[in-house]
Amino acid sequence: EQIKKGSYDHFMQKEIHEQPHSLTTTMRGRLKDSGVVLGGLKEHLKTLRRSRRVIFIGCGTSYNAALAARPFVEELTGIPVTMEVASDLLDRQGPIYREDTAVFVSQSGETADTLLALEYALEKGALCVGVTNTVGSTLSRKTHCGIHINAGCEIGVASTKAYTSQIVVMAMIALAIGSDQLSTQPRRESIITGLSSLPSHVSEDAEMKDLASSLIDSESLLVFGRGYNYATALEGALKVKEVALMHSEGMLAGEMKHGPLALVDENLPIIVIATRDSCFSKQKSVIQQLLSRKGRLIIMCSEGDISAVGPSASCRVIQVPEVADCLQPVINIIPLQLLAYHLTVLRGFDVDQPRNLAKSVTTQ
Ligand code: G6P
Repeated sequence: EQIKKGSYDHFMQKEIHEQPHSLTTTMRGRLKDSGVVLGGLKEHLKTLRRSRRVIFIGCGTSYNAALAARPFVEELTGIPVTMEVASDLLDRQGPIYREDTAVFVSQSGETADTLLALEYALEKGALCVGVTNTVGSTLSRKTHCGIHINAGCEIGVASTKAYTSQIVVMAMIALAIGSDQLSTQPRRESIITGLSSLPSHVSEDAEMKDLASSLIDSESLLVFGRGYNYATALEGALKVKEVALMHSEGMLAGEMKHGPLALVDENLPIIVIATRDSCFSKQKSVIQQLLSRKGRLIIMCSEGDISAVGPSASCRVIQVPEVADCLQPVINIIPLQLLAYHLTVLRGFDVDQPRNLAKSVTTQ
């Protein structure tokens, strides 16, 4: 086992640091100047373009990756996207139609709820697309078509590198579906450029250990995000919850006034994601409102952008490299993965085998 971990103490740590490489392998041979080439979808692109709706279905981190993809899939394809946690879709027996495309996202390709939701969608006659890391998995065998994320074997129970590769694959799927639209061509080209430079922007923030040590005794941690980074807030909080065994919630910043604001005091740490995109000025205002209630803030902002965010001296700052707005979730999650990792080590918990959790949940 130690040989497989190389110079790292834990698989989670290794897999977080592997991301420049895993993102590269995810995109290998698929990005061209003129567009993306996804062999797995080629024969179904026409049907995909005609879909009335795209339904993303997954569990845990895979669901969050799909949520991160939702804004740019809607933008580049013009097709409405709805989100389904697999178990909830099954509980409700929610309506699915022949004109729908159901995209199933699963690292293992073996999660029971996701596979049951797949059977359900197949029965309803939807086009079923798989996004998985596991060649030969039930998901890749039973879907009509799909894309392997090629992130390499992931061993840590908490998914890290698969999350970022899933987002990148869904960006490529959105680019492929939208490639017949002339009006979005400049936008598509800038996203393709953004994708190819993404691995070089994965930074390893050495300050995350220090930040983790300031949080080890906290009972709870909130993460506020919106727009492209609502998913980052949910996924950052999920990582902290599952490995560091600390209560943590990701929240939609736009909902702050409808409840979460009541929790704010000088003790509760709150991470606010305020990197540059069309929601930036709204996030600045969220920061001001939290500061005026003496919130204990940790602000994630674009590199060199601290003054623009306007934090007071009491705020901690996480700076991240700026990339194409819709790809920013790939970069923003990395410091939060590292934070969860260091919190877990410092709190003395098992990083790779969190209490009560399994890598692949194959029973309902
Ligand atoms: C388990 C794992 C999570 C994972 C989820 C979905 O809960 O602990 O890390 O995100 O299952 O797994 P999948 O293989 O379908 O992505």
